[in-house]
Amino acid sequence: MVRIAQGLLTPQAQAQVQAALAPGEALAGLASWADDIRKVRPETGPWHYVDIPLNSTGLDMMRDCPKGNCVIAKIEEFRDRWRNPSVSAEGRREALLFLVHFVGDMHQPLHCVDNSDQGGNQVPVVFQGSATNLHALWDFGLLRTMRAEDELLGQLQQAITPQVVTEWSRGTVEQWAMESWRTAQTSVYGPLPAHTPDQPVQLGEGYAKMAQPVVEQQIEKAGVRLAAILNASAQ
Ligand code: ADE
Ligand code: ZN
Repeated sequence: MVRIAQGLLTPQAQAQVQAALAPGEALAGLASWADDIRKVRPETGPWHYVDIPLNSTGLDMMRDCPKGNCVIAKIEEFRDRWRNPSVSAEGRREALLFLVHFVGDMHQPLHCVDNSDQGGNQVPVVFQGSATNLHALWDFGLLRTMRAEDELLGQLQQAITPQVVTEWSRGTVEQWAMESWRTAQTSVYGPLPAHTPDQPVQLGEGYAKMAQPVVEQQIEKAGVRLAAILNASAQ
């Protein structure tokens, strides 16, 4: 996702990103920093998601993003901080690292939905014989069954035509979250087989086949939109 974004940066945006990194440091290698600091900065936990109820008419910022403690408000906040030349170098670097991570997180559909199950974390799943949960399955379980990263990157980049860059770069962070929430309805929860709450949901090849193109497109969208934010900030 980060490498997709980097391939789409303008020279000015690329230079700003380089300037925020140490020599030899790669942005892709810093994408999980926001997860690494969660334990020592517990207040950042809710910044990774927005709980839009699965069975609702959609996002209600007052209800779903209390006190601005959600991924939508944090992307907007760190975008503004990244843009602001009067913020310290350290503050801008931190804003960049949060932005990279949160734009990725919000495109994992389960980071924009809740079904009284902590974004699927409390839904036990058996996927191809292994016990996991719905959230973890969409975080990395499905990715593991897909192609190796380098091969996948080239394939995803081919799908990113100038038309889709224009189309996906449009809209607000709130609209992007609503889109991710709808994807959770149609492609995460909708296709689940009927199950009893206390029994793990059995998922196999059929679910993986349905989900893989969805995972790929979410990664593509995240890369395009991270680039859109960084490019707009460099103008
Ligand atoms: N904890 C509570 N809701 C969550 C969600 N939607 N994603 C990740 N963690 C959560
Ligand atoms: Zn996260």
